[in-house]
Amino acid sequence: MTETVARDPGRQELPIPPDLIAALVARAARAPSVHNTQPWRFRATPQWLELRADHARDLPQTDPARREELISCGAALYGLRLAIREIGYRPAVRLLPDPARPGLLALVRLGAAAPATADELRLLAALPRRHTHRGAFSSVPVPASLLAGLQRDAAAEGAALVTIAEPARYQQLADLVAAADQAQHRDVAIRREVRRWTRPRGSPARDGVPGYAFPRQRQPAAGHLAQRDFDLGRGLGMLGGRGGRPAATAVLITAADDPADWLRAGQALHRLLLRAASHWVFASLHTQPLESPGFRDEIQARLALPGNPQMLLQFGHSHTAAATARRPAADVLD
Ligand SMILES: Cc1cc2nc3c(=O)[nH]c(=O)nc-3n(C[C@H](O)[C@H](O)[C@H](O)COP(=O)(O)O)c2cc1C
Repeated sequence: MTETVARDPGRQELPIPPDLIAALVARAARAPSVHNTQPWRFRATPQWLELRADHARDLPQTDPARREELISCGAALYGLRLAIREIGYRPAVRLLPDPARPGLLALVRLGAAAPATADELRLLAALPRRHTHRGAFSSVPVPASLLAGLQRDAAAEGAALVTIAEPARYQQLADLVAAADQAQHRDVAIRREVRRWTRPRGSPARDGVPGYAFPRQRQPAAGHLAQRDFDLGRGLGMLGGRGGRPAATAVLITAADDPADWLRAGQALHRLLLRAASHWVFASLHTQPLESPGFRDEIQARLALPGNPQMLLQFGHSHTAAATARRPAADVLD
């Protein structure tokens, strides 16, 4: 599925039929987002479906540059592109189309008609079970061929997935994640923000991170990077022990570090997470150190990364897939 940029006036491009928009947006909204803030808004004009960030959902303490907000919106954009493939069209996308309107992240229309490929149908089938995995992994290995496939996905979206296999490099990363996690734990404003975006058992909220998706225990098990503390000692976390080591650790990087790169990183993230989920492989995500410029620079330097780190991931196999709630399309559509 290639992203097409609408420059050729002769190329056939159509607005998305109004009766399909809500269903396509609902597909897009299955994307991962920082703290499940779902920080996206869609607006249908006669010509285009517009994507913007929803600034009412900013995280000023955790994400002051809105890097993670744009990664989240990029992930939703990938979901929308894939949903357009499902209805038999190539998506026509203009990323950041108007420098005078930086809030307008993307314009999307239907491109040429073309049935979804078998590969795209596999990714679509994995959409309902793709989730951020904060529980134990099973001991089923993750094949090297799958990791290579995830790297191809990242490259196809203009990013790169660097695996951290050597024990010494892994330990350096684990130490930095743990140190960043400790620093966040001491930060009252960051803790307040996490509290605002976590949900207790039985909450009817359709955003935020629910207790069934995170553990109470905050000590990482061997081989696991430190997890963000969503529980904050409140006893909300309902996930069981962490057991079973992840099979692979990786960093998603981009060549530059501007809003277009963040949107590319988000599209790459969603695409590779869906490919992994199509094999019942899921990822835990660890962005605490990337939220501090100092730790982020140190990760890039110490791991000698050939680009800017955007996401830290650990992959493993699991037989369970608890999806979290999303707001209905009507809530994110103007
Ligand atoms: C930019 C970004 C940063 C994230 N950072 C973390 C993180 O540090 N720790 C974590 O457990 N999950 C993290 N997540 C995962 C989100 O919490 C998750 O996507 C959201 O709660 C929705 O749940 P789902 O992925 O299971 O659908 C991040 C997701 C995104 C897109």
